[in-house]
Amino acid sequence: MQQQLGITRLRPGPSGTEGQPNQANYDEALANPFPDLPEVLKLENGSRVSTAKQWRAQRRPEIVELFEREVLGRVPKNVPRVQWSVTETATATVGERQVSAKHLQGKVDNSAYPALEVNIDLILVTPADAKGPVPVMIMFGGGRMPGAPAPARAPAPPGATPADPPATDQLLAAGWGYAYLNPTSVQADNGAGLTRGIIGLTNKGQPRKPDDWGSLRAWGWGASRALDYFETDKSVDAKRVGIEGVSRYGKAALVTMAFDERFAVVLIGSSGEGGAKLHRRNFGEAVENLTGSGEYHWMAGNFLKYGTAESSFGSRNAGDIPVDAHELLALCAPRATFISYGIPEKGDARWLDQKGSYMAALAAGPVFRLLGVKDLGQGDDYRNAKLPPVNEGLLAGKMAWRQHDGGHTDAPNWKYFIPWANRELGIK
Ligand code: GCU
Repeated sequence: MQQQLGITRLRPGPSGTEGQPNQANYDEALANPFPDLPEVLKLENGSRVSTAKQWRAQRRPEIVELFEREVLGRVPKNVPRVQWSVTETATATVGERQVSAKHLQGKVDNSAYPALEVNIDLILVTPADAKGPVPVMIMFGGGRMPGAPAPARAPAPPGATPADPPATDQLLAAGWGYAYLNPTSVQADNGAGLTRGIIGLTNKGQPRKPDDWGSLRAWGWGASRALDYFETDKSVDAKRVGIEGVSRYGKAALVTMAFDERFAVVLIGSSGEGGAKLHRRNFGEAVENLTGSGEYHWMAGNFLKYGTAESSFGSRNAGDIPVDAHELLALCAPRATFISYGIPEKGDARWLDQKGSYMAALAAGPVFRLLGVKDLGQGDDYRNAKLPPVNEGLLAGKMAWRQHDGGHTDAPNWKYFIPWANRELGIK
């Protein structure tokens, strides 16, 4: 990819290990080298966007194009079709609910390149006593069929605050279903895998072009195919399907929601750089980490340009990226968008730059309001953002923010997410 782009040298990313000489910046005074974000409500021709119609017809497509070309890559037009089938069914008890479960396989047509196979692994679990179709949260990550033996869990240390019930049990108790989508059944989580999985299959085993999709979009594509199936399954209310993930899968959840407007709601867990955090912030993880060997596969090849020290086109940095995270959040508007973090003291590291995401959320607010829904309700002044106190959710609008007092997980936020989503999606 470096050769295709004419890049001879990339800048190394800062270290996530604190105390190292090249540790990431954590000095707030140095955190905003590019204090002005690209204007979300200004067309490329310079005119202001002042109506919802202009947003939908003109500005949204411009932002989508920039993310596709420069940041996340395009889903190629020739991605083969997916054929879903149920491979196993079960009834079981999850938490205190009787459930019906389906193990599904989405077999991707590989007739154009039989050397590669892609089978999307999906599990759907719905309350057995549901009177009609139920809303469903798709969760990125592994999961088991209900009733399958659970791995032993370490007992809680004496005196620990009892943890909330698992998200799955909370969703079922509220009348929701849930689904586990295994992201790596769609696309591997490494650069070597780019010539395999759905990206490799579509490219017939050849390397990517600079604006081809990366793993984040491939995972999002997989979630969209799961939603295609849900549109055909009578147990699911396909107009009320959400997407959730944490960390790299928090990034993927945001990307899924941004590009596929059929998703009604998203829970973006600890997504950091490449997710809800501004690329333009110099705090914790940097663009140069995303362009490094462990992460570049999440992004489009073209994104490497922004970590370039030496190339045929000179050097570029975060300030040259034509879009930023506030615009990815804006693509979710006016749908229900919940940004979740934990605290560094418990392991949701400073590396994530919680504040950089809060700034992006403020800067996305005008788009939510233009489309007639409430944003965080904290004004638009992202430059002077002050993080809301831990455990105080901003839950009154279509965009929500909550930093819980736990670690690198969204578990403590589900009990706030569910009632908020019920209200925003009109679920009684
Ligand atoms: C690393 C990476 C993050 C990522 C995280 C994860 O910390 O720097 O960007 O979110 O891994 O997914 O676990």
